[in-house]
Amino acid sequence: MQVLLFRSLVAAAILAVALPQEAAAGTTAALESVNYGAFTQTATYSVANQLGFFIAYGLNVTFLQVPNSTYGYAQLLNGGYDIMTGTIDNAVNFRFNSNDSLTVTGQLDQGPELTVASIPNITSVAQLKGLSLMVDSAVSGYAYILRKVLALYGLHLEDGDYSFQVVGSTITRYADLVAGQLPNGTAVYATILTYPFTSEASVVPVDQRPNILARVSDFIQPFTSSAFTVRNQALSNTTQRALIRTFMAAMYSANQFLADPAQKNCSIAAIANQLNVSTAAATSAYSSAIDPLTGETSSPGSNFTVNRQGLLNVIDVRSQFDGFTEVLAGFNFAEAILPSAGNLIDSSVRDEALNATVQYSPISC
Ligand SMILES: *[C@@H]1O[C@H](CO)[C@@H](O)[C@H](O)[C@H]1NC(C)=O
Ligand SMILES: *[C@@H]1O[C@H](CO)[C@@H](O)[C@H](O)[C@H]1NC(C)=O
Ligand SMILES: *[C@@H]1O[C@H](CO)[C@@H](O)[C@H](O)[C@H]1NC(C)=O
Ligand SMILES: *[C@@H]1O[C@H](CO)[C@@H](O)[C@H](O)[C@H]1NC(C)=O
Ligand SMILES: *[C@@H]1O[C@H](CO)[C@@H](O)[C@H](O)[C@H]1NC(C)=O
Ligand SMILES: *[C@@H]1O[C@H](CO)[C@@H](O)[C@H](O)[C@H]1NC(C)=O
Ligand SMILES: *[C@@H]1O[C@H](CO)[C@@H](O)[C@H](O)[C@H]1NC(C)=O
Ligand SMILES: *[C@@H]1O[C@H](CO)[C@@H](O)[C@H](O)[C@H]1NC(C)=O
Ligand SMILES: *[C@@H]1O[C@H](CO)[C@@H](O)[C@H](O)[C@H]1NC(C)=O
Ligand SMILES: *[C@@H]1O[C@H](CO)[C@@H](O)[C@H](O)[C@H]1NC(C)=O
Repeated sequence: MQVLLFRSLVAAAILAVALPQEAAAGTTAALESVNYGAFTQTATYSVANQLGFFIAYGLNVTFLQVPNSTYGYAQLLNGGYDIMTGTIDNAVNFRFNSNDSLTVTGQLDQGPELTVASIPNITSVAQLKGLSLMVDSAVSGYAYILRKVLALYGLHLEDGDYSFQVVGSTITRYADLVAGQLPNGTAVYATILTYPFTSEASVVPVDQRPNILARVSDFIQPFTSSAFTVRNQALSNTTQRALIRTFMAAMYSANQFLADPAQKNCSIAAIANQLNVSTAAATSAYSSAIDPLTGETSSPGSNFTVNRQGLLNVIDVRSQFDGFTEVLAGFNFAEAILPSAGNLIDSSVRDEALNATVQYSPISC
């Protein structure tokens, strides 16, 4: 059933764009390749990929799963990825601490489904005392928000109330949490989950189902999370800049489709097919993707603008845990986060992308 639906969706999407092109040019235009690095398959990506938006924009997007942030951002800088989406704290860290040449070109979401989740027999944050908690990196943004939430419950990493297991990105941590152990048999207890894993967790058989101990949005909000990120050099190369512009335009069109309540069922089907999950899990994921506070349609103006307050909160949480050790005294954060060419955020390619959208509606869902 799901497979059939998936095939008909893809067939419809290909037909929708291939026919007019063939009619016009007598041949199917070659697609441009994009290497897209990402930690999770967001709802916007699912819609863009499943419903033919990338093809309509002439793109052949290869989704490259980021295994961990250290590796992912190195890939971005060395040209392995043309563009990536990752939580903006990484860009803040690599840029302000290490002066790495990367730039944020827009915000995708404000941390949908960011939760502290545990194995079934742990039912409160207090029970995490004395345990080791899974993180991507001990100095990554999600480790800091885990510390922030736990600190509000009186548990402090620096006091030895708990420790960290460095395991990898959310997709790995989720699999380990449901299994109750790392591949080598070490027990696991809790971690931070993000979209779509909190939704996926909600439909896991009850004896393995993770508990949601806390929602980050109850403690920190707004909170800017996934952001489009590129290496600086790509912005000054005409070919690479055009590819980034087209990718962001396709994602923007898909994001508007996602935001349209009339397309709800179609978006849910796209999410279900992309993630290979049940309609129940996809419906839950859809709800978080369109959440006005945390979702993928929550950026100011719904146009990939970075929420300044959300970014200030990211910087605030990192500061609280001494996460700016390499930043010189007197550094002007307020000015450094103004969107401008050469700064952390440069929205000019986003501005161009909004002008480069094409008319496209998936034939049927
Ligand atoms: C898309 O890119 C992949 C990997 O580079 C390639 O194998 C595939 O043939 C391409 N598809 C199209 C339709 O261009
Ligand atoms: C990150 O991923 C790379 C590539 O898969 C791997 O070689 C490396 O060991 C990983 N690092 C951590 C800390 O897991
Ligand atoms: C950061 O790197 C840029 C080049 O990418 C360089 O111009 C600048 O001087 C560096 N700043 C510091 C503080 O090292
Ligand atoms: C939960 O189960 C794990 C593994 O079976 C065990 O090590 C741990 O002590 C249990 N924790 C609680 C709070 O019951
Ligand atoms: C199991 O794997 C984790 C994460 O890679 C590692 O930190 C730990 O030392 C390993 N434990 C054993 C007993 O090999
Ligand atoms: C711009 O990028 C293209 C495609 O990656 C590359 O072939 C070209 O050499 C680059 N141009 C410059 C001036 O670096
Ligand atoms: C959307 O799906 C629901 C539940 O399956 C169904 O009741 C409703 O009629 C559908 N709406 C449209 C517009 O197809
Ligand atoms: C989708 O999930 C089903 C069952 O959960 C599994 O059997 C199937 O292999 C998965 N398909 C893909 C393409 O991963
Ligand atoms: C995006 O939305 C913001 C906030 O509403 C608005 O100020 C800005 O002009 C919009 N940008 C574009 C390029 O449409
Ligand atoms: C987008 O289009 C508008 C209207 O044509 C124009 O005023 C604006 O300069 C364009 N912006 C960019 C960044 O191309």
